[in-house]
Amino acid sequence: MTQEETTRTVLIVGGAPYGEERADLLLVDGVMAALGVDATAHPAAADATRIDADGLIVLPGLVDLHTHLREPGREDAETVETGSAAAALGGFTAVFAMPNTDPTADTAGVVEQVYRLGRDVGLVDVHPIGAVTVGRRGERLAELAAMASSAAGVRVFSDDGECVSDPLLMRRALEYVKAFGGVIAQHAQEPRLTEGAQMHEGVVSARLGMTGWPAVAEEAIIARDCLLADHVDSRLHICHLSTAGSVDVVAAAKARGTRVTAEVTPHHLLLTDERAEGYDPVFKVNPPLRTDTDVQKLRSALADGTIDIVATDHAPHASQDKECEWDNASPGMLGLQTALSVVIATMVRPGLLDWRGVARVLSEAPARIGGLAGHGRPIAVGEPANLVLVDPDTSWTVSGVDLASLSANTPFEGMELPGRVVGTFLRGKQTVADGALLSVQVI
Ligand code: DOR
Ligand code: ZN
Repeated sequence: MTQEETTRTVLIVGGAPYGEERADLLLVDGVMAALGVDATAHPAAADATRIDADGLIVLPGLVDLHTHLREPGREDAETVETGSAAAALGGFTAVFAMPNTDPTADTAGVVEQVYRLGRDVGLVDVHPIGAVTVGRRGERLAELAAMASSAAGVRVFSDDGECVSDPLLMRRALEYVKAFGGVIAQHAQEPRLTEGAQMHEGVVSARLGMTGWPAVAEEAIIARDCLLADHVDSRLHICHLSTAGSVDVVAAAKARGTRVTAEVTPHHLLLTDERAEGYDPVFKVNPPLRTDTDVQKLRSALADGTIDIVATDHAPHASQDKECEWDNASPGMLGLQTALSVVIATMVRPGLLDWRGVARVLSEAPARIGGLAGHGRPIAVGEPANLVLVDPDTSWTVSGVDLASLSANTPFEGMELPGRVVGTFLRGKQTVADGALLSVQVI
């Protein structure tokens, strides 16, 4: 057996898929070849690299539908390489990269560039999201079909960071992507209602004297776009849904059959607008942190399926863009390496989600929404070996400078979070072992 074949055969011993019955797992050539008692009895098991997963939970590799990798253009904040490292360490095997780069990912050329950078790094599958409008300026549609038929095979389109606020452009975009099974991911923010906004509009913004970002600015766009998606019978995805009222709008649309899906971020599941009280811009984010009532409703909506997925909105920013006064700071926070732990803290520990539910919201549903065939698959014989091993019983203290991202703007600095990613496998190759990055070349 050659060295290459040896490293491609892995026996994971003693892990518990979905936190249920323990079952050994044999990976051969990037595929799950045997499960349970069959795994150790399999002829290939004798020469396999053995990995002790005693006490660990095995989940399908996580999929992030909303990541900012900053390349091209802001390689001082993040690169495809450093963002991929953060993703693998966070348990992800695939990420979707938002197009608000410089140049904007609004052409086949730029999305192919990002796609190839991701493939060359080889730690996670990087799927570029294409811009809906040229330069994300909201004036005319970008080359959606050219991006779809490019080597990057783009299926998700978004002007994230900006709302596609023109209803006619939104309608046309929704109609256009039907031809290739695409989806429009909307950053729902009515621009006129949020001019100059710095934080959630409510009692805290009134006390601090900051310009507010009212919940209705999100809810009005979601309601409008659900109606437009109905009208043209197309697929709509709502980025980083953040208010209790938005949950009601999405629930009503789903009840009448609208083809809408929605995501919530880890930070909106854990933090509230009271964090703004110290004027620390690490807590500035768009949409802003909301109230505890919103947080509780977001958690229950994720548990009952009204909200389909957790997406990180990993938004690295260089220190000069964050360590300044609140009004001038860029919005956004890191998320890839803390997402799973925050979901454990906010959803698993309180009994709102079991591990099957975690697999659903952080792997299966995002892969389905993004149109990925090789990710978010069940842990079963014949499926691609994209997996994460999680220690559910440990905890760790977050330190921004220790994260793999080039930036350090984590809102969870100093917090002790439960659960830890121990290992990650991309098509059977281990990218993370004992919680540390391995440099690998995955085929
Ligand atoms: O907080 C945010 N940061 N929200 C966005 O929509 C964009 C993102 C970024 O690119 O930094
Ligand atoms: Zn956004």
